[in-house]
Order: sequence, then structure tokens, then C-alpha cells
Amino acid sequence: MPVPFNFTTAIATALTEAAAQLELDSTIFTTAVRIADPRHGDFQANGLLPYAKRTKQNPRALAEQVVAALPSNITDSCDVQIAGPGFLNFTLKPDALEAWLTEFTDEAALQAGAESAQPEADKVFVVDYSAPNTAKQMHVGHLRSAVIGEAISRLLSFSGAKVIRDNHIGDWGTGFGKLIWAYKRELNTTALETDPLEEFERLYRAGNKAADEDEAVLTDARQELVKLQSGDVENLAIWKRINEVSLEAFQKIYDQLGIKFDYTLGESFYNDKVEQIYAELSDTGLAEESQGALVVFHPEHPRFKSQPFMIRKSDGAANYASTDLATLLYRREHFDADAAIYVIDSRQGDHCQQLFLTAEKWFAKTDRKLPRLEHTSFGTVLGENNKPLKTRSGENIKLRDLLQEATERAAALVAEKSAQLSPEEQAEIARVVGIGSVQYADLCQNRSTDYVFSWDKMISLEGNTAAYLLYAVARIRSIFRKLDQSPEDANAFEVASALETPTEIALARKLAKFPEALSSAVGPLRPHVLCLFLFELAGEFSGFYAADKVAVDDLAVRARRLRLCARTLLILETGLHLLGLRTLTRM
Ligand code: ARG
Repeated sequence: MPVPFNFTTAIATALTEAAAQLELDSTIFTTAVRIADPRHGDFQANGLLPYAKRTKQNPRALAEQVVAALPSNITDSCDVQIAGPGFLNFTLKPDALEAWLTEFTDEAALQAGAESAQPEADKVFVVDYSAPNTAKQMHVGHLRSAVIGEAISRLLSFSGAKVIRDNHIGDWGTGFGKLIWAYKRELNTTALETDPLEEFERLYRAGNKAADEDEAVLTDARQELVKLQSGDVENLAIWKRINEVSLEAFQKIYDQLGIKFDYTLGESFYNDKVEQIYAELSDTGLAEESQGALVVFHPEHPRFKSQPFMIRKSDGAANYASTDLATLLYRREHFDADAAIYVIDSRQGDHCQQLFLTAEKWFAKTDRKLPRLEHTSFGTVLGENNKPLKTRSGENIKLRDLLQEATERAAALVAEKSAQLSPEEQAEIARVVGIGSVQYADLCQNRSTDYVFSWDKMISLEGNTAAYLLYAVARIRSIFRKLDQSPEDANAFEVASALETPTEIALARKLAKFPEALSSAVGPLRPHVLCLFLFELAGEFSGFYAADKVAVDDLAVRARRLRLCARTLLILETGLHLLGLRTLTRM
């Protein structure tokens, strides 16, 4: 029996077909299908009741007609029941579960299924994430964009989108004037050797302080900036050096987090592309001069009607807005982007809104196709005191130190739980668990809200944590090891008998809902939905494993239980990889 990957979409399609056959009014008939409370089945469709009300029909009678008109792919795979006043409940039949488990046997099969079920397939998505400013180290404030952006990129790409990962670094700020000023006077070459970013940060602070205290320094620093912007060879070389060193340091963090960008087109890349923006926005009448600056008002907006979007500063220099507009045009024209996803913290909400509003009008006036624009915003990482997380002395926590501490803390856990493993193995596990815990703690929260950073909660084998899931993965691998079998060996499951016990069936029903978790995470770009599913799946697995012995003598029973183990493993591993985590075979 051919089995759909995603039953929700298959049922929705079937309902649409049935409705068409019964000539229901498609403008008011909704086919939304959702996951049901497991006690009532697997899926539920609630659209008939409001339809019957509006068209003054008996809802149960209508429901009976619709059920009778459902195509056989759904009636073969689901028991359909009319519940209450006219809800439709769909319960997957054991045969359909069986077929699903036989069909989606590896990551490639899951991905093929995901692509077929996703509207995003084949669309070009530029994902703009991480994007720190150069000359500074990445700190905890840079964690979320990197982690969430990577997970979103992987989820989209798994669903068939063409994903372009673009690191829009801030490499052209006005800060470079002061930094170059100090670099030329106060550079400590030894410090530059040992920890260049630390040295650049020190120089920047020194330049800043000197400029604050002495007007003449400020003038000189401005001069350095003008020289840089007009292509002075020496200043350009210093600037280049600073950026190279910064990118090298960023790369070390990205390597730990499993991030690989396709492009790093920072603000400086758009230097020669902003003139066109000024010209087009002026010519279309969207931008106007105001006190020497070029600005865009949005008269229809309560705040932006008086608080304009400044796209060129009064000294003639480009700013964050000019480069972002140029970036968007480049993404549209050069990458042919269907969507641009900005993974930026929620405090830049106004900037994004003004950018999007401006782009909408500008693209309309110039007959361009506007990509889907989305500010995938997120809250702040808080300390236990509910204030943005800082060191004891009130400084930003460097990401490098944070990841280091995560690995050390995980090492302590590993030493306690896995003392029998070799030191090398323990170190590897500590890295995966430590970094994975930081990533997962960030991802399992609804990204819109702030969250409190707690080492004890995140590096724990209990609760919705990376360690819990990584442990579940390792445990399933060890089941196979003990039986001297491989989860990838499909032949081993051929003798499997039909699913029988309630815990086997409950686990199979959960597994077959991976597609829904995936699409509910990809649609609104919310990875926490997938986290929750994986956590629940691991719980369902524990229930099964406690109730149903796997290593039984009856080979047909053993095979069907091993197959459940293999599929749980596949989905846990695939899911964790989609979130950006690495997994372990042993823990
Ligand atoms: N560099 C910026 C910052 O640190 C973030 C850039 C985000 N991307 C963008 N296209 N604006 O705040």
C-alpha cells in the first residue's frame, strides 16, 4: 500500500477532494487537520461543523456524506470516526503504521517525504544570521542568532528549499576611525600575536576614551575614517587585517557550533551599491531630504509617520539602513531570492519593520518581485537575576568562554556517568554534550521569549535537554551493539511480525507524526516545535522499552521491536542533526 509521508496533508487533500465531489462551497469549507489527543485518534478535522452551521445542514449527516466520499488512500490507512456533533477523527490503522515504518527507513527517504509535503520546496531562501560586528569578540548576545539561524537553515534545506546562508557581518562601522587612530599609536605587538581580538578591543576602548577626552583626537579619528572610506592604502590594510583576524576567531566558534556559511557579505561589500539606493528611492519619491539626511516616512504607520527611516546620514555617509536596502536588492537580483529571513534579536524590530515597509513600496514602484521578508526575532538570554546574562563583574560573557565552560561542565557529568570509557572518548562526549546542551537549551524555548540561562538545567540527563536526547540515541545504539546487529541493516527486519502491544503501537503512532512536527517547525520557523516532538518521542520510547523486551527468543517479535528501535533512532538522530547538534554512538 502506498503510504503518505505526512498524513495531515494527505487527509487535508482527501477532504478537499471529497468536498469537491459533494460540491461543497470551497470558499467557506476549511480542511485544516490537526494532531488529535491520542485518546481520540491521531488526527482531527473540525471544519465540517462551522460549514454545516453556515449552510444550515445537519452536521452529522454532512459528516457521513463527506466520510463516504473520502478517497481510498485515506479510508485504507485510517479508521475514520464521526465524533460529537460532527468532528472527524482519524486513527491510523496498524497496517498503515507498518507501511510507514517500512517506507521511511533512512534520512534520504525522510527528506524525500519532507520535500514532497512542503510548499517551500525549490524556493530560494537567504538566511541572514549570526552577523556579528568585527573588531570585537562574539559574546553571549551573539549566541541565539547563530544557533537559531543554523537550525532554521537546516530545517528549510531538509524541506527542499535552496538555502543561502549569508553572514552579514558589521565590518564597516564608524568605530573604525577611533580603532585605526589607536592602532597607529598604541599597538602592542606582543598582545597582537597572542590574542589579537582582545588587543583590538583594548585599542578600540583606548581610542574611544581618548576621543572622548580630547576634541583633537576625535577630529583625527574622523580623519582616519574618511581616509579609510576614500581608499587610503595604509588604513585599508589595517582595516583588512582587523577583519581577517575577527573572521578567524568567529570561525572557531562556528566550527564548534557546526555552522558553515555560503557567503560572508558584510556591510562593506555594499559600499559601492548604496548610490543606486539613494537614487532609486529619491526618484520614486519615497525618500526625501530632511536636515541634510535622506529619510523615508511611512505616513500610514502610527510611529513611522513621524519617526523616519534614515537611509543616508547628514554627513553623506551610508548607514545600517542603506546597506540593508542594498543587501536586499542584491539578494533579490543576484541570488534570485524568494525569501529573506533575518534572524536578528527582537530589539531590532523597528529597523526590520521600516526596512520591510520601505522595500515593499520601493519594489512595487520599480516593478520588482518582493521576496517574502521575515524578521525571525528572538528574546534575550537572561541570568538567574532575570537581567541580560553578564559575568559577575558585569561584562559580556565571551562566547568562546561560554562554550569552553559548557564542555568542562559536561566533562564532569561524563566522568561521573561514563567512567568506564577511555579519556579520549570521554573528551569527545563532553564536547558534543556540552556544546549541544547550549544549542538545545536555546532552541527548545519558543524563540520569541527571553530565557534564563541555567547550567544545571541545561546539562542534565533529566527533562527536555540535549543530554537526555543524546543519551536516548546512545542507548538505542547500544541495544543493537549488544545483539551484534546494525540499525541500518534492513534485512534484519524482514521477518518482523505485526505490531501488537499497546506500547509498540503508541510508539509507532508517535514516529509517524514526525512529518507534522517538521512542518510545524518549518512553517513558522520555530525549531522548538521539533525539540518538543523529539522529547516526547524519547519518552514514548522509554515507555515501550520498559514494557516490551526487545531481546526475546521469538525472532519475529524481536525483529519488529528492533525495527521500532531503529526508526526511533533514525528520527532522533535526524531531528537532532536538523537542530544543528552532533550525536554520539556511545555515552
Ligand atoms: N551586525 C548587526 C548587529 O550586530 C546585525 C546584522 C543583522 N543583519 C542585517 N541584515 N541587518 O546588530
